[in-house]
Amino acid sequence: MRIDKFLHAMRIGTRTQVRRLIKDGHITANGEPVLSGKQQINPGSDAVFLDDEQVRYQQYFYYVMNKPLGVITATVDAQAKTVLDLFNTTDYRDDLFPVGRLDKDTEGVLVITNDGALSHALLAPAHHVTKLYEAEVTGEITAEQVAGFNAGITLKDGTQLQPAEAEIVEFHEIENFTTIRIKIHEGKYHQVKRMIGTLGERVVQLQRIKFGSLQLPVGLLAGNYRALTDAELAALKADAGQEED
Ligand code: URA
Repeated sequence: MRIDKFLHAMRIGTRTQVRRLIKDGHITANGEPVLSGKQQINPGSDAVFLDDEQVRYQQYFYYVMNKPLGVITATVDAQAKTVLDLFNTTDYRDDLFPVGRLDKDTEGVLVITNDGALSHALLAPAHHVTKLYEAEVTGEITAEQVAGFNAGITLKDGTQLQPAEAEIVEFHEIENFTTIRIKIHEGKYHQVKRMIGTLGERVVQLQRIKFGSLQLPVGLLAGNYRALTDAELAALKADAGQEED
C-alpha cells in the first residue's frame, strides 16, 4: 500500500497535510526517512512513525454521532445532506456507513463504522438489540393506553410487532402533548411513529437516546460525533453477540 494512502486512512491528515508531512521529513518507515508518498509499505508489518509516534494500523473505525434533524442516514445522496457529510476531511473515509436507519426528522444516537460484521450483527433480528426512544406525542397518552405495547401490537397494515416497553414521562397540559419513552427490540420502518399512530396520535419530535448499551453521550451536540471509547465498543460487541478478541 502507498504510504500516503496509509497515513490518510489512519486519519493522520488530509491528503494535502500528509503530502506536507512527508515533504517536511516527519515520516519514517522502519527507521528510514520516507521521501515519497508513493513508497510502498506493508501496513501490518512495517513500523511507520510520525516524528516519535508510531502510526499503528487500524482496520476498523467506530464513531457515535448525535444525528441532527434534517440529514439522512445514508452515505451519499444527490440532494439531501447525509450523516457522512458531517464528517471532517480527516475522519472521513469512503467505507464508513451508518448502522441502521433513523428518519430524516429523528435525532439522536447513531453508530457509524466501516465494520460490516458488527453492523450486521447489531441489526440481526436474532440479537434483539434494544433501542430507546424519547418521543413527544400529540395529546394526552396514559399508561393504560401504552400498556398494550407490552404484549406486542399489530400495526394498521397488519405488521405484528414484538413486545415493547413504554413509559409516560410527562403530560404537558398547557401545550397538550405527552413525553413518552419507548423501548423496542426491532427496527421496523417508522416503527415508533406507527406505534403511536395506533393510538390515534402523532409523534411531533423523536430522539433515540440509547442504541443497545450505547447511551447518547452527554454533551455531544446534535451534528457532532466522536470515536467510540474502548469500553463502549466492547459493550456494543457484547450486545451483538460478538466475542472480544
Ligand atoms: N421509529 C421511527 O418512527 N422513526 C425512527 O427514525 C426510528 C424509530
